[in-house]
Amino acid sequence: MGIGTPLSPTATRVMLLGSGELGKEVAIAFQRLGVEVIAVDRYPGAPAHQVAHRWHAIDMTDPVTLGTLIEQEQPDLVVPEIEAIATSALAEVEAAGTTVVPTARAARLTMDREGIRRLAAEELGLPTSPYAFADTIDEVHAAVAKVGVPCVLKPVMSSSGKGQSVIRDAGDAQSAWSHALDAGRVASTRVIVEGYVDFDYEITQLTVRGAEGTVFCEPIGHRQESGDYVESWQPQPMSDAAAAAARDVSEKITTALGGRGVFGVELFVRGDEVLFSEVSPRPHDTGLVTMATQRLSEFELHARAVLGLPLDVTLRSPGASAVIYGGVEAKALVFSGVDEALAVPESDIRLFGKPQSHPKRRMGVAVASGPDVDTARERATRAASLVRPLPAPDA
Ligand SMILES: Nc1ncnc2c1ncn2[C@@H]1O[C@H](COP(=O)(O)OP(=O)(O)OP(=O)(O)O)[C@@H](O)[C@H]1O
Ligand SMILES: [Mg+2]
Repeated sequence: MGIGTPLSPTATRVMLLGSGELGKEVAIAFQRLGVEVIAVDRYPGAPAHQVAHRWHAIDMTDPVTLGTLIEQEQPDLVVPEIEAIATSALAEVEAAGTTVVPTARAARLTMDREGIRRLAAEELGLPTSPYAFADTIDEVHAAVAKVGVPCVLKPVMSSSGKGQSVIRDAGDAQSAWSHALDAGRVASTRVIVEGYVDFDYEITQLTVRGAEGTVFCEPIGHRQESGDYVESWQPQPMSDAAAAAARDVSEKITTALGGRGVFGVELFVRGDEVLFSEVSPRPHDTGLVTMATQRLSEFELHARAVLGLPLDVTLRSPGASAVIYGGVEAKALVFSGVDEALAVPESDIRLFGKPQSHPKRRMGVAVASGPDVDTARERATRAASLVRPLPAPDA
């Protein structure tokens, strides 16, 4: 399709559902292509709100509120950035002719660990860890017995490691269950118990479905702490067999989800064996590294893919990213040390502009390139550590 002029009747309008740091970069990528961007989140002043043509703060889990807003704004494309969305409203607007990226069904299946796990393991036959679902403590005990220890218990609706615990022996089941109940995103009590995978390393296989087929970025390695990513790098060295298996699994799961856009396929690797973990039908947090490594970042690739434009996944340089946490509880922050951070060779930072800081809230990221991944990791980590978030005076 042609691209119109923003803020005119010809505009090509994109509505972002979720306006965090990933949405902010997606918004900027669309802005650069002359697309009109409407950013939606649950609170005003979210990162992508600050770079959009218009913004809204609504409860996106309420189907009526969400459906009404989409009706009012008449976007050409609805681009979800987060999982916690009323997917019934997405299905309705899709049925009425608006493109949902990648598809309403993909958004529905991936917001719930059960939907995507059953699709991957039972319909597609992809290798995964053993698993079982449970709704009560008795079912949790049965699930742990079936899967075996060690295992991981997670709410089916949760992200960023919330409510997850490792069960090392059957006696841990009760506390893991209570932890999941406290942290689940919705009133659901359903959990998944997954066999603990003693992987050599884990990767994100960014997979892009465009107008002319599917392309794969170089694999991204990453390190997680308490289920949240702290550091990522690209390319992750892999055996030829593991790299081929990663692309094969990614091709199958993304083909099953359909539509166009970037997918972040999370995989565990043990020797030449690759296990499917989960998939985001959108850019992935560990893919922030692509701002330092690829000719087109995952955000630019997402924008191009959904607009049906040509893709280029060329890696320009090895690189790495390291997260900058808030570190403190504060209404606003002042970041000092940015000058020192940017003096690190080949480094760059993104400060997301989030209005409220918590110790573990992701407030920014440092990225760096280098001659090899080890050098880039050292640079990104050093740059991130040089940025010192301080509570703003009067805050
Ligand atoms: N079965 C498992 N075996 C070993 N490690 C696991 C397992 N499940 C999860 N992990 C670890 O915990 C991390 C987070 O798990 P997962 O991706 O399932 O949760 P999440 O809440 O969706 O996280 P995010 O939203 O940040 O991707 C994984 O990247 C991995 O490091
Ligand atoms: Mg994950």
